[in-house]
Amino acid sequence: MSFRRVADAASLWPGEMKGILVDATRVLLLNVGGDVRAYEDSCPHRGVALSCGTLEASGTLTCAMHLWQYDARTGKGLNPRCARAGAGSPAPSSNGIGAGPSGCRWTSKR
Ligand code: FES
Repeated sequence: MSFRRVADAASLWPGEMKGILVDATRVLLLNVGGDVRAYEDSCPHRGVALSCGTLEASGTLTCAMHLWQYDARTGKGLNPRCARAGAGSPAPSSNGIGAGPSGCRWTSKR
């Protein structure tokens, strides 16, 4: 499976998130207290872009449409707990963010 670099981790400030388009994949990049994560930018409920929601300093990511909530550090659902943000793959020791056909993953700098 191949991944390619799409952003620098340093391009996101703590508390910031943004959605980007990588080929046909919507990718959500966010920074929670210095930990940068990448997920599919799609709410599991109805597919609305999670980048349109809000990110609290506590790490709670809230979808703008029906207010489902996720732990932005893990992708696990907070409300409802059975939900899960799609295909995130955090790896804090790396410094680049990559995206591939089945989701998002960290990459090394080069
Ligand atoms: S689309 Fe996200 S909560 Fe409904």
